[in-house]
Amino acid sequence: MQKSFDVIVIGGGPGGYVCAIRLAQLGFKTACVESRETLGGTCLNVGCIPSKSLLNLSENYHKAQKEFNNLGIEASNIKLNLSKMMENKNKSVLMLTKGVEYLFKKNKITYLKGNGSITSQNTVTVVDESKKKLNYQTRNIVISTGSIPASLPGIKIDEKIIVSSTGALSFNKVPKELIIIGGGYIGLEMGSVWKRLGSNVTVIEFLDHIIPGMDSDISTEFLKILKKQGINFKLNSKVTAVSVAKDQAVVDFADKEKTIRTRLHTDKVLVAVGRKPNTEGLNLTKIGVKKDIQGRIMVNKKFQTKFENIYAIGDVIPGPMLAHKAEYEGIAVAEIIAGQAGHVNYEVIPAVIYTNPEVATVGKTEEELTKEKIEYKVGKFPFLANSRAKINNETEGFVKIIASKKTDKILGAHMIGSHVGTMIAEMALAMEFSASSEDVARTCHAHPTHTEAVKEAALAVDKRPIHY
Ligand code: NAI
Repeated sequence: MQKSFDVIVIGGGPGGYVCAIRLAQLGFKTACVESRETLGGTCLNVGCIPSKSLLNLSENYHKAQKEFNNLGIEASNIKLNLSKMMENKNKSVLMLTKGVEYLFKKNKITYLKGNGSITSQNTVTVVDESKKKLNYQTRNIVISTGSIPASLPGIKIDEKIIVSSTGALSFNKVPKELIIIGGGYIGLEMGSVWKRLGSNVTVIEFLDHIIPGMDSDISTEFLKILKKQGINFKLNSKVTAVSVAKDQAVVDFADKEKTIRTRLHTDKVLVAVGRKPNTEGLNLTKIGVKKDIQGRIMVNKKFQTKFENIYAIGDVIPGPMLAHKAEYEGIAVAEIIAGQAGHVNYEVIPAVIYTNPEVATVGKTEEELTKEKIEYKVGKFPFLANSRAKINNETEGFVKIIASKKTDKILGAHMIGSHVGTMIAEMALAMEFSASSEDVARTCHAHPTHTEAVKEAALAVDKRPIHY
C-alpha cells in the first residue's frame, strides 16, 4: 500500500526533527525518515549532547581532584570510573533521543525508520532494516541529512586508533597519549575532556592560530589558557601521514615550508579537520539536484533546490555547521511551505565552544569589520573585575562588544569565560532588536552575576566602565 504525505523530511537531526514538528503544528501531514536507530541526528547521538555530557562530567572530576582541597572541601581518593561516566553519558543521550520520539507521537508525525532517497520529484523511497523497499508519495520534500566527519588524504579513520569525534566519545580507557589533528571546535572540546581525564594531549593545527574565523583577541587568549591547562600545541603544522603499528599510531607532520619534519607516536589520533555534507545515497545526481564544489546542496533564499518542492536545510547547505542554525532553517522552511515569511537572520547566529572557560561569539569580528571598512568602537571588560566571577574563582577571560562608530548599533560580541555560552543569548537578543551598546549599558543587570560583565563591556564602549 502506498502512503502519501504533504511533506517528507529526510533526516531526523535538529534541522529535520524541528522542521517536522513545525510542519505538524502548521497542519501538514508530515513524515520524517531516519536511518539511525534513534532520532536526534549527529547532535543528540554522537555530537553536541554526548560531548557536553563528557565535558561536564570531566570538569567535575577535574575540580574534585585538583581544586576542592584548596577550597576547604576535603576529598581524598578521588578516582575515575570511566565506564560509569560513559554510562551516564549514554543515559543522557537515550533520554533526549526518546524525548524527540515522544514529540513526534505528540505531534502525530509519522516516523519512517530506514534509509530515504528521492526517486522522483514527488516520491521518497525508504529501505528499512530488513531491506524492504517502500515508496511514499509527497507534495514536498525537505532534505536535512546533516554532515559526516571529513578526513585527510591517505588517512583512514578506523574508529579504534584513528578516530573521528564519534570514536573519541567512547574510548574505553583513557589514552596515555592523544594527538588531535585540527584546533577547531571538536579538537578543543574533546582535547579538554581527555586532558582532564588524564591524557597527554597534543593538538596539531595547520594555521598559526586556533579556531579559524574567531575574533583574534579571543583566539589568542583561548590558546594561552589552554596551554596553561597543559594542552600541547603544534601550530603552523601540516600532518603528512598517519599510520598504525602495533596498536599505536605514528603521526608525521612538518612545518609549512617542510623544513622541520617531526614524528610522534601516540595511543590514539583524533581527526577533527571539519565535516562534509552527507548527501550520498539520496539519488540527487540522478534526479538533477545540484551541489557546489564543496558538495553542498545549492538552494535559493527559500531553501528550494532546482525543484520548487524539494528543499534543503542545515549542514547540507552553506553556512556554519551548527545545530541551532539547522533548527532555525527547519522552522523557516516549514513556514515557507505554509506560505508564510519564514526567515533566518544569518547576521545573528551565536556559536559556543563548551570548554572551560567557554568561548561564545555572535556577529562580526574586528577582522571582518576592518576588511569590510566599517568603522567601529570596542568595549572590553575582564572577568577579573567581576565580583561573582571573583567569588567563584572564575576570573579568566573577558567580554568584548563591538559597536558601530557612527550609530552605536552592536555589530558583534565575543566572550571567553565561565558561563559565556549562556550569556551570549543576551547579545544575540540585543542584536536581533538592533540595540545599541548604550541600550545594553542602560539595562539593569542583577548583582552579583557574571552578566554584569556584559553591561560593563557595553559601558566600556563609551569608555565609562564602573569597575575597571
Ligand atoms: P573546524 O572547522 O572547527 O576545525 C578544523 C580545524 O582543522 C581548523 O582549525 C583547520 O585549520 C584545521 N585543519 C584542517 N586541515 C588540517 C591539517 N591537514 N592539519 C592540521 N590542521 C588542519 O572543524 P571540527 O572541529 O572538525 O568541527 C566540525 C564542525 O562541527 C564545525 O563546523 C563546528 O562548527 C561543528 N561543531 C560545533 C560545536 C559547537 O558548536 N560547540 C562542537 C563540535 C563541532
